[in-house]
Amino acid sequence: MKDAKLKTVYVCSNCGETSPRWMGRCPSCGSWNTMNEDVVAEPARSSSARAVPRQEGSTRLTAHRLAEIRSTEEKSRIVTGISELDRVLGGGIVLGGVVLLSGEPGVGKSTMLLQLCGAISDQHTVLYITGEESERQVKLRANRLNLSQQNIYLAAENDVDEICGLIEKEKPELVVIDSIQTMRCADISSSSGTVSQVKESTARLLAVAKKQEVPMFIVGHVNKDGAIAGPKVMEHLVDTVLYFEGDRMLPYRILRAAKNRYGSTNELGMFDMTGRGLTEIANPSQMLLEGRPLGVSGNCVACTMEGTRPILSEIQALAAKTNFPSPRRTCSGYDYNRMNLLIAVLEKRAGFAFGSLDVYLNVIGGITLRDTSCDLAVCLSMVSSLLDRPVHDKLLAVGEVGLGGEIRSVPSLEQRLREAERIGFEQAVIPKHSLARLNPADYPGLRLIGAAYISDAISVLK
Ligand code: TYD
Ligand code: MG
Repeated sequence: MKDAKLKTVYVCSNCGETSPRWMGRCPSCGSWNTMNEDVVAEPARSSSARAVPRQEGSTRLTAHRLAEIRSTEEKSRIVTGISELDRVLGGGIVLGGVVLLSGEPGVGKSTMLLQLCGAISDQHTVLYITGEESERQVKLRANRLNLSQQNIYLAAENDVDEICGLIEKEKPELVVIDSIQTMRCADISSSSGTVSQVKESTARLLAVAKKQEVPMFIVGHVNKDGAIAGPKVMEHLVDTVLYFEGDRMLPYRILRAAKNRYGSTNELGMFDMTGRGLTEIANPSQMLLEGRPLGVSGNCVACTMEGTRPILSEIQALAAKTNFPSPRRTCSGYDYNRMNLLIAVLEKRAGFAFGSLDVYLNVIGGITLRDTSCDLAVCLSMVSSLLDRPVHDKLLAVGEVGLGGEIRSVPSLEQRLREAERIGFEQAVIPKHSLARLNPADYPGLRLIGAAYISDAISVLK
């Protein structure tokens, strides 16, 4: 690369688009103020490429029959034993799979990965590359987390080529890179964290991971808007993208897959950050329903599916006389427009007048219900508050509400009912059509109430 010419370009930190001059707005993705200066080497013009015209029918390529390609799916996963993480990964870590773990600073990415190293280090050797903290800091954290430290190898390094060399030499069974924004390729002149560095570092690490069939976790920071700082192109390169989310106001952290080549992206893992690291929340329904006021109007329990997991959560509504010319409607944890739609259905189809009432709707625990099967519980909580008649404390309401006021069936009803029964619920209002295909003997603790219209469901209020 002696005679490689350096040139200055402007690279969009959101999508990776390049431009020879600075622009306020990226012409490709339209985001503002994301074009950052970067220095790249101009690629040497190769004379060999396509010098000779292609001859008809000549190629080096051969295609393989899909059925004959060797698959190592069964033995190619490492089960970490941290079941919330395994679930999100789709059943464990895939050999050669590269996972990007992103999240805001302080959410617990380094803690999570160090705990992961500890969890698998009994049977596997792990290489932890830290670009942010010193070896001593990582050691102190490992002590605090009370990890078995025998098979965890640590290196504080930023040079990607050195790291690749170390991986080839040591042949670890898992590699952690903390974080990609601190890594740099020595032959690229821009500073670490720039688009070209992040892109090239990821590509080189990925190549080693694939060649050595070693799974790799890469930490990536997110910027203010929640996007991964640096190019989106990093998300295209890796096999799995995990987002670790948390709010300082919430007691728990949520791990989600935004992309997964080896599993579903619906799954979600819940963790609690304690004084001794992250602990799994195996029973989120129990946690979300803890401390629930009993016998109070305006509350109803819904069940949402997060991937394959049913989670019960409490919906609270408050309908109060308005002091404004047009009533206020606020909503947290539920779609605002859907709430208005349900209010209109209740007015038109069941004759409840919300016209002069403010309505406040809140889902407890800071979770967001995106599932339409929560419609019925939302309607019940609003009507319960309007009439000031409480819903039975141990009642679950599941069903989608249509514009005609009819209650429609929902997927995974059996799992939702089983979860309610496990938590100790006694009654469930469900769509009437679904009642016919269920066997009530499967849920001995639950009284199943079928409702065809919203007015049938409202008759369960005390
Ligand atoms: P960290 O894993 O360093 O976050 P990240 O790598 O995502 O930036 O740590 C996150 C926070 O968690 C840190 O502010 C301190 C806190 N913490 C605990 O509460 N308990 C613990 O056992 C540990 C290790 C950290
Ligand atoms: Mg960290």
